[in-house]
Amino acid sequence: MWTKENLQEMLKQKLEGYQFMVVSNREPYSHEYEGRKIKCFKAIGGLVTALDSVLQSTGGTWIAYGSGDADKDVVDKNDIVRMPVNNPRYNLKRIWLTKEEENDFYYGYSNQALWPLCHIVYRQPLFNVSHYNTYLNVNKKFAAAVLDIAGKEKSFVWTQDYQMCLVAKFIKEANPGIITALFWHIPWPNPEVFRICPQKIEIMEGLLSNDLLGFHIHYHCHRFLEACEQEIEAKVQWEEMSVTYKGHTTLVRPFPISIDTQNVASQANLHFVKNEIDNLPDEIDPPYEILAVGVDRIDYTKGIVEKLYAIDRFLEKYPQYQGRFVFFQQGALSRLHIKYYKEYIDRIQALTEEINWKYRCGKWYPIVLNNRRTEYYRQLALYRAADICIVSSLHDGMNLVSKEFVASNTDFKGMLILSKFTGASRELKEAILINPYDIENFADSIKEAIELSQDEKTSRVKKMQETIEENNVYKWAGKFIENLAKL
Ligand code: F6P
Repeated sequence: MWTKENLQEMLKQKLEGYQFMVVSNREPYSHEYEGRKIKCFKAIGGLVTALDSVLQSTGGTWIAYGSGDADKDVVDKNDIVRMPVNNPRYNLKRIWLTKEEENDFYYGYSNQALWPLCHIVYRQPLFNVSHYNTYLNVNKKFAAAVLDIAGKEKSFVWTQDYQMCLVAKFIKEANPGIITALFWHIPWPNPEVFRICPQKIEIMEGLLSNDLLGFHIHYHCHRFLEACEQEIEAKVQWEEMSVTYKGHTTLVRPFPISIDTQNVASQANLHFVKNEIDNLPDEIDPPYEILAVGVDRIDYTKGIVEKLYAIDRFLEKYPQYQGRFVFFQQGALSRLHIKYYKEYIDRIQALTEEINWKYRCGKWYPIVLNNRRTEYYRQLALYRAADICIVSSLHDGMNLVSKEFVASNTDFKGMLILSKFTGASRELKEAILINPYDIENFADSIKEAIELSQDEKTSRVKKMQETIEENNVYKWAGKFIENLAKL
């Protein structure tokens, strides 16, 4: 079993004498003004959830964009702040982006070109040359920060995700001795989809500057290797899963990302989390007997609209649950400057009103939306109070909400309904698996989850807990670094 301690031990042996750096766009913690006070917030999303646990155990430097309005007021002269605030374990080095850079790099190329390209959920990617040029320059800026910290010391740099495709190329050009690796947190598209990207060669060259490239699952590794064969003059060694391009070899491997399972379970058992469960009915206004929850970043890939259609159909088809069933959707607002996201939140709100109006009876109505930022312990209370958690992504690299829900379900009360199109569904096989586009079957699955016997639930949840206890985030990071050390 991988633990924080044996990951630390392994790193000591394998990376002895190396500086350890993580590079991502999203910073793990941001500082924000609330009135005159500065508050520190942990970011949402799988990347931060996983890597914060890792960096707390390994130490090192995390380089990321400083997006909080108070971020500049808390860093030292090198733009570094120690994190987390209450138990400092690593350096957070903040990179500053101009409004134009944020617009073209983050809202533009990253989230209007690469994001829809990789998720394939019927939103057309926008390839804008000026967005791409800014993307390239911002990647250069991150590489410069790495080179500055590395100096002449031996360093290992672990970049994260689709916002950072070109960072390793700029690092290697300046200092080929630095070991570079990248983990891709989202799906990798099939070759027919990838080939439409006008910057596909540059993207591949950037990724192949890494010594190791990780995806969540084998399927994405294979799609990437196919793209290498079809798009560039590269030698693909299928057996050892590696690609040699312009004399440099990149290993390609699957590493299913995870959570600090034991820590989530023990936090879910803390007394103030339990107390919070009693306060939930204040927030969830309509009376209920059966509570279903959804916890997502509001994103069109998460299938929230499909979830609402399925709830509508469920209440229509099984009227015995009207007046008894409530669905609470916790949805963190995100990327709102992008048209598709703005339209998506409007669609969710309109649909919720429509469904609530259709079924409302006395004090009861079926759907509650909450877009306010929530403290982590409240999220855990929500998981613990829920009879069902619904994860209905149309396409998702992994989905760590599903794993957190299972880990915090210490009394085996809740059942997970999980989309087949998440990486997590390959591990959490005992969940009720759905195709979120198949609304009829999705509605039936809600009924099935409610009517499952407690014995059946206990046995299925226990099996899922065993799986994620074994495959925790320390194993994810440990295996990644072990593979790198073999080089
Ligand atoms: O998992 C994909 C991802 O983009 C991560 O990089 C990030 O943690 C999460 O989604 C949240 O997205 P954003 O950083 O754009 O808010």
